Amino acid sequence: MTDRVGAGAHLLVTGGAGFIGSEYVRQVLGRRDGTRITVLDKLTYAGNRANLAAVEGDEEQAGRFRFIQGDIADADAVGPLVAEADAVVNVAAETHVDRSILDPEAFLRTGVIGVHVLLEAVRAQADAGRHVRFLQVSTDEVYGDIAEGRSVETDALAPRSPYAAAKASSELLVRSYGVTFGVDAVITRGSNTYGPYQHPEKLIPLFVTNALAGDPLPMYGDGMQVRDWLHVSDHAAGIDFVLRHGEAGEAYNVPGGTELPNRDVIGRLLEAAGRDWSLVRTVPDRPGHDRRYAMDGSKVRALGWAPLVEFDEGLPATVAWYRDNAAWVDAAKGGDWADYYRRQYETRLARGQAAAEIDAG
Ligand code: NAD
Ligand code: TYD
Repeated sequence: MTDRVGAGAHLLVTGGAGFIGSEYVRQVLGRRDGTRITVLDKLTYAGNRANLAAVEGDEEQAGRFRFIQGDIADADAVGPLVAEADAVVNVAAETHVDRSILDPEAFLRTGVIGVHVLLEAVRAQADAGRHVRFLQVSTDEVYGDIAEGRSVETDALAPRSPYAAAKASSELLVRSYGVTFGVDAVITRGSNTYGPYQHPEKLIPLFVTNALAGDPLPMYGDGMQVRDWLHVSDHAAGIDFVLRHGEAGEAYNVPGGTELPNRDVIGRLLEAAGRDWSLVRTVPDRPGHDRRYAMDGSKVRALGWAPLVEFDEGLPATVAWYRDNAAWVDAAKGGDWADYYRRQYETRLARGQAAAEIDAG
């Protein structure tokens, strides 16, 4: 199979201090095949240098790794880095739907202006006769809510939250630079991702860390919304697979294949944490809450990629990781986390009810 990037390449990984980006960096450098990585990361509330400690602490890996703090929307920072890279893997984004409802602007700055700046830098290299491949990490949320069936790559993009709209906008820009300027670009659409090092704002890390602390779990609405869960190591492997083997101009769904209603996920994580349903509160729903995401993974499977981690194994291991890494959790729940939590949940929790009471009738 053709490797379009090749061993020994120099990758610019934007957003590499976040959850999926840091797993990608650890995984690729861990292969020890000579690949070099530069991470460009703004270190927003979600970026954490500690996520890269394993790489920076390893003499051989650290020699192939460089960290630069900066914004993908800053053309002066981006240009020289793209000029040194064989490929750009754009993992950087504002990523939490609830924050996009509270404050959409940052999502558009990074998702539209930032992606445009990266694409312009890649285009400038092409104009100078240097080939740089571009991979945009996207999401199943660009398809919007689907009542039945599974989204395929040719379906229309129908985003419904400011987060999903920013991600769909990034995709459209990437596609336009491929068609108009011949930029060699591919897109991955991963499903809901879980695992170690995820900032405790999304469902699984928030509920696991709250459960371990004996705090309430704020379940939106009836908890029957369906998500398809993908382990972070599989997501990172899927990104790397598409980077190396994807056809230029194509988008690839990267589904986990474990579609579950939130209630089931919550029940399983409570069991793994040794807690019970009495911690769950039903709270007022998220505005515009997408009821279901589900993707067809035939296209990427035909290319040769499939997820490896079963949810039944990945979830308990994830709970154990958060239990064993209390210092990481305390640091992640420091900073502005408490303010965000109050803004997002104080009124909701005051209006919430114990889920067990509601279920009992
Ligand atoms: P994350 O929030 O954990 O990390 C995002 C990283 O990007 C952080 O390190 C942050 O500092 C950095 N960043 C943000 N804005 C930046 C900017 N302007 N310039 C440079 N760096 C910036 O996110 P994640 O969950 O790891 O998601 C990574 C990517 O995967 C995103 O593009 C997201 O849309 C996509 N995705 C995530 C999921 C999921 O369930 N987490 C699922 C599908 C797709
Ligand atoms: P989330 O992890 O925010 O991912 P996304 O909205 O991008 O799919 O949420 C996953 C599901 O969990 C989604 O249906 C919303 C729900 N949810 C809650 O019920 N309570 C919460 O506090 C959070 C953060 C999410």
